[in-house]
Amino acid sequence: MRILSIETSCDETAISLVDARKTESGISFEILGNVTHSQVSVHQEFGGVFPALAKREHQNNLVPVLLMVLNNPAQSDPGRNNADLACSFLERERDLLEQFKAHVAGLENPSIEAICVTSGPGLEPALWVGINFAKALGALWNIPVVAVNHMEGHILSVIVPDVSTEEKKFEFKNEIRFPALALLISGGHTELVLAKSIGDYEIIGKTRDDAVGEAFDKVARILGLPYPGGPEISKLALQFKGEGNSATPNFPRPMITSPDLDFSFSGLKTAVLYYAQNLPQPLSQENKIAIAYEFENAVSEVLVKKTKKAIDTCGAQTLIVAGGVSANARIKSEFRKMIEQNFPETALLFPERELTGDNALMIALAGYFKIEKSPNAVYNDIRAEGNLIL
Ligand code: KG4
Ligand code: ZN
Repeated sequence: MRILSIETSCDETAISLVDARKTESGISFEILGNVTHSQVSVHQEFGGVFPALAKREHQNNLVPVLLMVLNNPAQSDPGRNNADLACSFLERERDLLEQFKAHVAGLENPSIEAICVTSGPGLEPALWVGINFAKALGALWNIPVVAVNHMEGHILSVIVPDVSTEEKKFEFKNEIRFPALALLISGGHTELVLAKSIGDYEIIGKTRDDAVGEAFDKVARILGLPYPGGPEISKLALQFKGEGNSATPNFPRPMITSPDLDFSFSGLKTAVLYYAQNLPQPLSQENKIAIAYEFENAVSEVLVKKTKKAIDTCGAQTLIVAGGVSANARIKSEFRKMIEQNFPETALLFPERELTGDNALMIALAGYFKIEKSPNAVYNDIRAEGNLIL
């Protein structure tokens, strides 16, 4: 089954084309195209993602990204297929409509059987662009459009091996043993999800205020570092030369001993702010390094401790740590240590570096499993749901 997937929930415009086939030992996936266009440089001057700007960027980028994925030079032959119906879905996306008419409406159906699109959670104006584009393509080629939950995408991103190599084929042999626990850590979410099988999820813990990635971004701003802050903090923390230094702060570990599986990061960010404000200004490089290091300490300790508690409670056979923040080397190594020392039988899965952030490949995978589970489901009225939960 060939699936085209579209992801526009935040600041990446991403499309992929995947062929999925059942085999005797599992499912073989072939990545026929996968393009992620980051808008980071556009949002950077605002210090975060600006929804109206993200929407405009998606409108500008979807057609060029689609043509790259289909490996199709821009061509102009409007009026074939169901072009009129297709264009009617783009009435609210005027800029996108012009490009669609000029370069897409004339494309023949590239043997795709379904289109999967992120319907939430995320920024609604941004989600709508992807959804309307998916509906237009579905109408053009007369194929179904399937709504996918972005967070399920992050969970399933771990089944893709290194996609930077020439080999674009891989086989999924049920490497996720159930029950599985997923810790999803991104700019908008911090969730512990219990998965009884693919498609059967329960959120058993979540942040009560800021998401981890958001905390990284805010602390980065306090330190005068650009957006996104996660990678910048991580780079700084690596320069830390050792404890015992009088300049080393001591930040709180919010909710680390609370009886539930919830998190809280806004107090930690405030502690960093107060600490930084009491230092000589402008902050010295040494102070910035010590803050970044201790902030990562606090975050990894809380994440690891709460996740360990969740595994103790649910007896997970697999731990998945995914989402943008799972790119963090320190956090990854703390999780490796914790699993090795406490749950040697539990499999620990991280996404490949290229798939930690938002991408369309994970949406194709989640979509594939959804179609497999309910092949005859009809998704007539797909809507953007900013707060969609698993
Ligand atoms: O999953 P993602 O790309 O987008 C959302 O769905 O939010 O996550 C983006 C978040 C940003 O907050 C960014 O600062 C954080 O992931 N991030 C990191 C690292 N790389 C990205 N945080 C900590 N360490 C990193 N190396
Ligand atoms: Zn995400």
